[in-house]
Amino acid sequence: MQILDSALEATRDAAAARLMAGELVALPTETVYGLAGDATNGQAVARIYEAKGRPAFNPLIAHVSSFEMARQLVDMNPVAEKLAAQFWPGPLTLVLPVAEGCPVHPLATAGLPTLAVRMPAGPMRDIVRRVGRPLAAPSANRSGGVSPTTAAHVAHSLGEKVGMIVDGGSARVGLESTIVKSGETGIYLLRPGGLPREAIEDFLGMELLGGGEGGIEAPGQMTSHYAPSGHVRLNAVAVKPGEYLIGFGSQALPGQEHAAGFANLSPTGDLVEAAANLFAVLAAFDAPGIHTIAVAPVPEHGLGLAINDRLRRAAAPRPFQPEKL
Ligand code: TXA
Ligand code: MG
Repeated sequence: MQILDSALEATRDAAAARLMAGELVALPTETVYGLAGDATNGQAVARIYEAKGRPAFNPLIAHVSSFEMARQLVDMNPVAEKLAAQFWPGPLTLVLPVAEGCPVHPLATAGLPTLAVRMPAGPMRDIVRRVGRPLAAPSANRSGGVSPTTAAHVAHSLGEKVGMIVDGGSARVGLESTIVKSGETGIYLLRPGGLPREAIEDFLGMELLGGGEGGIEAPGQMTSHYAPSGHVRLNAVAVKPGEYLIGFGSQALPGQEHAAGFANLSPTGDLVEAAANLFAVLAAFDAPGIHTIAVAPVPEHGLGLAINDRLRRAAAPRPFQPEKL
């Protein structure tokens, strides 16, 4: 693993080149170190989850270098524009509706209709600018660990899971960004963080809703979140006539030739590729007329844990789905 000085031009060039090639790089931000990958590249995003060892897909923050880039990703309402103009670059993340044509891969949003965006201060912003694409970056620690504020913390937590760490010294803020969601029903504090709640409230001249302890919204954790409208049948060992099939690996299931439709998460049985394809396949099979979707078994290790977690949620019973009525 390489640890390179963020002040050097050559470091920023090397980091940008790796990121453009779909590799991961740990980058310093003013809040904590992030494990960054090209947010538009499903395989890069899958590698982030893999490196963190997370058993589920949590939506990630897309880091931007300019207001223009942010507007390509999300619908910036007037409150969001105002907050961004005041606090970016800085420790504030905004959760907003995904914009039409947003290039961020659905694995980074965990399939949600909203996306978290932030413009970081320091060398990461310059590296995003060089890459020319948004970077997805959760804190650069193994799942369940403490967010790292030095390059040494990152090396200790992720070890050989990360090939390059850009060393920018100690993170100035040392706390993750404050997350605010601005929507039609109000302005919510989803996660307290490096920008004090009062600073936002004083600036807006109003109180934020929600927040405090337990204020984090965990959209990916809702049991039936992001499920296709059809019934999902997991660990199928054979395909019944009329069923759609989500396959994994090269082995055909008995009855597969009678499937009404077929998509393979990864013909070679590669879990990184399967993760990158998962949300797109679920979305494609969320269509009128698709009543039952059989899913071939996916191995319960590595990224397979997160893939299966998400598939179980997709298969969970849903008593009420207002958005589908
Ligand atoms: O300071 C930070 O925000 C750092 C640096 C690297 O930028 N990043 C960070 O990322 O803390 P992460 O992945 O550790 O935390 C992001 C949080 C998660 O709790 C996630 O659930 C939430 O943001 N989140 C992301 N997208 C969301 C969305 N669309 N709606 C609600 N919450 C979302
Ligand atoms: Mg984290």
